[in-house]
Amino acid sequence: MALAGSRCALVIFTILLMTAVASGAKLSKYFYYRTCPNVESIVRNKVNQIVTADRGMAPGLLRLHFHDCFVRGCDGSVLLDSASHTAEKDAPPNFGSLRGFAEVDAIKATVESACPGVVSCADILALAARDAVVKVGGKYWSVPLGRKDGFTSSLVEANASLPSPFSTFSQLVQNFAAVGLNAKDMVILSGGHTIGQAHCAVVIPRLYNFNGVPGATDPSLDPTFANLLRTLCPSDQPLTFVGQMDATNGTFDNKYFKAVQSRRGLFPSDAALITNSFGRRVVSIAAKNPGSFSTDFGKSMVKMGNIRVLTGAAGEVRRVCSAVNNNQAL
Ligand code: HEM
Repeated sequence: MALAGSRCALVIFTILLMTAVASGAKLSKYFYYRTCPNVESIVRNKVNQIVTADRGMAPGLLRLHFHDCFVRGCDGSVLLDSASHTAEKDAPPNFGSLRGFAEVDAIKATVESACPGVVSCADILALAARDAVVKVGGKYWSVPLGRKDGFTSSLVEANASLPSPFSTFSQLVQNFAAVGLNAKDMVILSGGHTIGQAHCAVVIPRLYNFNGVPGATDPSLDPTFANLLRTLCPSDQPLTFVGQMDATNGTFDNKYFKAVQSRRGLFPSDAALITNSFGRRVVSIAAKNPGSFSTDFGKSMVKMGNIRVLTGAAGEVRRVCSAVNNNQAL
C-alpha cells in the first residue's frame, strides 16, 4: 500500500517535472516537491506572523525581491553583507531604506530547520514577496522556484542597475528593458507603490527647488497635494518619512494608479508614468479595474522573478542569507 502510494507520488512528480521541462521553464512551482514539500506553507506562516506584527514589513519584503532581481538577477545578492568590498545593501538606493533583512533571516532559519541546505535565499525572497502582498490584500500568484544563490554582491552594480526615482518615462522603460521587462511591466510593477513608505529626500526637490530653481514647485504635482507634502516634508528634513505612498498605503490595491492619474504620485518616476500615451493607457486601465491590475501584477512579478536566475549547478544554497557558504570574501 505504502509502496503503491510512493510510486504514485513518483509518477506525479515525473509528470510535473516533464511538464516543466516541456514548457522550457527553468524554474518550476514543483521544484521542492520532494525535497521540501512544505516550503510554501512554512514561508507563508512566517510571513503572516511577521506582517501581523508589523504591517510595514509587507512593502519591505516586496521591495527586497525587486531590488534583488534588478541587480545581477534574482540571486539573493541583496542579502549579502559587505566583506572585502561593499555590497548592494550598503549602496545609496538601499542603505537606510531597504527593510526586512532580519525577517528574511528568521524565515530562512525556520525553513532550514525543516529542510536543511535545500531552499535558496533567492527563492525565499520570491515567496515572501508574494505572501506579503497577499497578506495585505493583493491577489495570489504561483511562484516558480529553483533559483540558486549567487556568490557576490556589489555597491557599484546596485547603483548602476536600480532605477532612480528622478527618472523620466523613457529612462524607466530603458532601465526595465535592460532586465528583459517591457513598458507595461514597468508601469504595472510601479503599482508596488500602493504599499509602503518613503523618505522626504525624493520629494523635497519637487516641492522647494524644482529643476534647481529656488522656491519652485513641480507643476505636475496637484497643488493641494503639494501643500500637504510641504507640511509633511519641511525642506530641511530629508530623513523624515512621508506618511504614505497612496491613500490606502496599508492595503495592496489599485489606489496608487488613481493617485498617479490625479497628479498625486509621490516621486518624479511615479508622475512620469502619465507623461507618455502608452503609460497613460496602462495607468488608466489599472485605475479603473482592480481585478486586471492584480492579475497583471502577478504576471509581471513572475517575469521579474525570472531575471537572470542561477539554476542547476550554478550558484549555491546559502546556509544563512547574509553570507556565502565558504566564508570567502565577496
Ligand atoms: C519604477 C521604478 C521604481 C523606482 C524609481 C522606485 C523608487 C522607490 C523609492 C525611492 C522608494 C522609497 C525609499 C525610501 O525613501 O525609503 C521606493 C519604495 C518602495 N518601492 Fe519602489 N521604485 C520603483 C519600482 C518599484 C517596484 C517595481 C516595486 C515592486 C514591485 C517597488 C516597491 C516599492 C515598495 C513596496 C516601497 C516601499 C518600501 C517600504 O515601505 O519599505 N518599487 N521605491
